[in-house]
Amino acid sequence: MRMVDLIEKKRDGGVLSDEEIRFIIDGFTKGDIPDYQMSAWAMAVFYKGMTDHETAVLTDAMMRSGDTIDLSRFGTKSVDKHSTGGVGDKTTLILAPIVSSLGGKMAKMSGRGLGHTGGTVDKLESIPGYKTTLSAEEFMQQVEDVGVAVIGQSGNLTPADKKLYALRDVTATVDSLPLITSSIMSKKLAAGSHSIVLDVKVGSGAFMKTLGDARKLAENMVAIGKACGRNVRAVLSNMDVPLGMAIGNALEVQEAAEILQGRGCDDLRGVCMTLAANMVELCNGWDEAFAKQQVHDAVASGRAFAQMKRWIAAQGGDASVLEDFSKLPQASVRHEILAPQDGWICRMDTQKVGEASSLLGAGRMTKEDTIDFAAGIVLSKKTGDYAKKGDVLATLYTNKAASLAESEAMFLRALSWSEEKPEPETLIFDIIR
Ligand code: URA
Repeated sequence: MRMVDLIEKKRDGGVLSDEEIRFIIDGFTKGDIPDYQMSAWAMAVFYKGMTDHETAVLTDAMMRSGDTIDLSRFGTKSVDKHSTGGVGDKTTLILAPIVSSLGGKMAKMSGRGLGHTGGTVDKLESIPGYKTTLSAEEFMQQVEDVGVAVIGQSGNLTPADKKLYALRDVTATVDSLPLITSSIMSKKLAAGSHSIVLDVKVGSGAFMKTLGDARKLAENMVAIGKACGRNVRAVLSNMDVPLGMAIGNALEVQEAAEILQGRGCDDLRGVCMTLAANMVELCNGWDEAFAKQQVHDAVASGRAFAQMKRWIAAQGGDASVLEDFSKLPQASVRHEILAPQDGWICRMDTQKVGEASSLLGAGRMTKEDTIDFAAGIVLSKKTGDYAKKGDVLATLYTNKAASLAESEAMFLRALSWSEEKPEPETLIFDIIR
């Protein structure tokens, strides 16, 4: 087989056989197929697409390109969640304690943030002492004992995806449905959980800007997960507005702890309750109404918050920060953004809000950047709220005073104003079962 023939076949709209797809992924992983040929192939896929069967084989080949995690000791109780990325998305910090307090086993590997979206590992590292690296034995033992462990990506999981994603990033081939589907699902399948709930974000702060595209991605991922014998569901949730009020690592840890203490805002609570209920439905075999009630009770009783403290402490973190937020990293500069006019906020360009937070130090522009855990934005108003001129819209937190002016200008540019009260935002668009 020659790679040049397979590029040509896809370029001309052909359907690749299973052997041809496995040849490509195997050869690329080993370094036999050079980046320039793989880039040309990715561009051919970008234009010509793949059938569902090709996408499934590609996913399987990428999953098998490296190590896979064996969670069979947890039977059907192992459960994972994946978010396609957003602004203010701290759902893992809230879900993990809820789900593990209800019998789910969460052995979770999470990523770091890049660009306008945050990463769970960065958020957890803002907790003094929290270890995002554990040995394989420590990781499994903690899941066994506590029900949850969340670490950074480690080991040699899906090396084909690592290499291909890096190429796609610099060859304008990220936005391809079969390539996104296989990238996400190969990683989730390699991570080993029996049940997986996918939180597919839709809107201006998300990868998928339209409901139609997000639905297609969700349906593809659910179909592939099921074909591989896993219990998979996708929740289509709103990312046209930041999730919750806090954006930035330590600020989001604080907001997550507040939710589990019965405080915090309704949109964040609503999305977390939906995701958690779907997770415990799948891993415990519960019906929808019972799952929702159990999730509600876990939070209302304080059991989920107690479990959050147990998890953080088990992983070396100082759990007292979850009650005394002054022990979290603190910014030296705080600056309030005031409303420049009266009116309703009818839209927030959520990607821009994320970028305004990154400018303050909360995110990375390149993979090598370091993060300021204390930096970020706390919103006082968001889409659907009314502000009078001079009202506080948001507070910026940073240790880089020089970044304030640019961040404030970007934040204000992200807002659209109206004289009319806008329709309330939909929180959950659909659930793909
Ligand atoms: N996230 C991934 O992991 N892969 C993609 O291709 C896109 C988003």
